[in-house]
Parts: sequence; C-alpha cells; structure tokens
Amino acid sequence: MEHLISMRDLDTRRINALIKRAGDIESGREKPDMSNRVMGALFFEPSTRTQLSFDTAMKRLGGKVITMSGTKGTSVEKGESLADTVKIINQYADIIVVRHYNEGAARYISEQVDIPVVNAGDGANQHPTQSLLDLYSIQKTQNTLNNLRIALVGDLKYGRTVHSLVYALAGYNPVFYFVAPEALAMPQYILDDLDNMGMTYEVRETLEEIIPQLDIMYVTRIQRERFADPEEYEKVKNAFIIRAAHLTEVKENFRILHPLPRVNEIHTDVDTLPGAYYFQQAGNGVYMRQAILTTLLEQL
Ligand code: CP
Repeated sequence: MEHLISMRDLDTRRINALIKRAGDIESGREKPDMSNRVMGALFFEPSTRTQLSFDTAMKRLGGKVITMSGTKGTSVEKGESLADTVKIINQYADIIVVRHYNEGAARYISEQVDIPVVNAGDGANQHPTQSLLDLYSIQKTQNTLNNLRIALVGDLKYGRTVHSLVYALAGYNPVFYFVAPEALAMPQYILDDLDNMGMTYEVRETLEEIIPQLDIMYVTRIQRERFADPEEYEKVKNAFIIRAAHLTEVKENFRILHPLPRVNEIHTDVDTLPGAYYFQQAGNGVYMRQAILTTLLEQL
C-alpha cells in the first residue's frame, strides 16, 4: 500500500489487515512509535472529525503534525500552484493527508510527491479513511462484515462517504438498499460497477418498510455545498428526518451510523437509543487512522 486514494485500490485482504491493526492499537496489543515521523495535513475544505482525528492519531503515536487549514495566509493566495505547494510539503513531512474540493486531487498529488498520500476526501468522489473506520465500526457492532443488510440513506449522488463504502463492502456479500430522492440517487457508474461485481442492491425512495430487516442504517447529510442551484437543495433538504418513533421495530443488532456532521436528518431524540452509534463511530476513526498511518509509514 503506497498511498490510500480510493477504496477501489484496496482488496479484502488489505481491508481486513487494517481492521485487525486498528483493533490491536485500540486494545493496546500494538503500540506503534511514530516519534521520528511528521504528518503534513492539507485541508482545502472544512473538516472537524477527519482533520482532528488524524491530528490526535499521529500525536498519540508520538509523531508530529504540520497543518495547512485552508489557504488563507499561505502562498496559494499569491498564486502558488497545487503541484508546487505539495512538492514543498514533500520536503517537510513524511506523509501527506489531504482534503480537497476537486475530485481526483489526491491522486494528482500522489503523482507529484515521493511520500505516501492519504485521501481525506476529494470533492464528491471518495473518502476512503471514513469507509475504513465505518467498516471497523460495523465489525465491532456486528462481529462480522459478512452478509449484512445495509441501507444507505440520504445524499447518494454527491456523498463521497457512501461512494467509498459500497466499494469497501463489496467483498463481504452485503444486501444494499439505496434510499434517496430521485435527484440524489446513487450514480449510474457505481450501479454499473455493482452489477459487474454481481452484487445485490435495491434502489428505493422510501425507508419505513425495510427498517425491521436492517442490520445497519447509514444516514448521510444532504450537502448544501454540492448544489449548483439553491432551489434544487430546497426541494430535497428535508427528504429524510429519522426520529426515535420510526425505530420501534428494529433488530437487536441494529445500528445507525452517520459520517457526520448532521443537520436534521437524524433527530436528537435518536441519540439515546441503543442503536445510535454515530458518536462512537467518530471515535473509532482515531484507531483506524493510526492503523493507516502506521501501515503507510513503516514501509518508508
Ligand atoms: N465525516 C467527516 O468527514 O467529517 P468532517 O467533514 O468533519 O471531517
């Protein structure tokens, strides 16, 4: 594993190894030492969880972090190109973690530098470290990743977390329910890929009837910032609002996940239900990101 750019680049063996490693780090069975390593965090888009969990992940391993949070006050404001910027970070850090608004930016950066690059979200394309922490969360709550019934709910068109997640789960024989308004449906290229892989999925616009069958409900925010036309956002912004009253007949192992941040798609009255797992899910991100950093840095 030279870089981590897309879930499509990882096979099931590598995914399982990262999940095991995250568990070993969380339990204390493995205590990696990154005290001679520096992580360069480049966040060209806003982030709370991804940026801060990578930051604490590296520091808790003894490593150092240098950060560019937005471009204000940097030489990007003077016209420095992305390629030149990352070639400079290449001189200062041992690994680059990048979030960028352009799809394909992380792959492009990986071609400019000779240190590992981790995609922390590129436009509406992929968010592989989120998917890996999602898999770690599913494994912890279900004791397996195999043969699960999983509903992906909300913005399936622009949602990079769900795009990554369907590829991440491809090797585990899931049944997917893609639940979204027509305007935010899962992109056809992903459905084509799933067809080619022989995977089972159902495209739906309503959720209620399938809730009792689900192991996992993965809810996503309708992302205002991805809409070119604000009127289109207004039409779909309240498409799904999950309340505790909707979740009275669920399986014992049922969990709700959400990459967060949420706006109103999961009402706060869900937060105290036994199935609400989204805050613990965010916490799991620290261990998975430690596993990713360790795996990429130990090969240097
Ligand atoms: N889940 C996620 O990527 O959250 P942030 O945008 O806060 O990093």
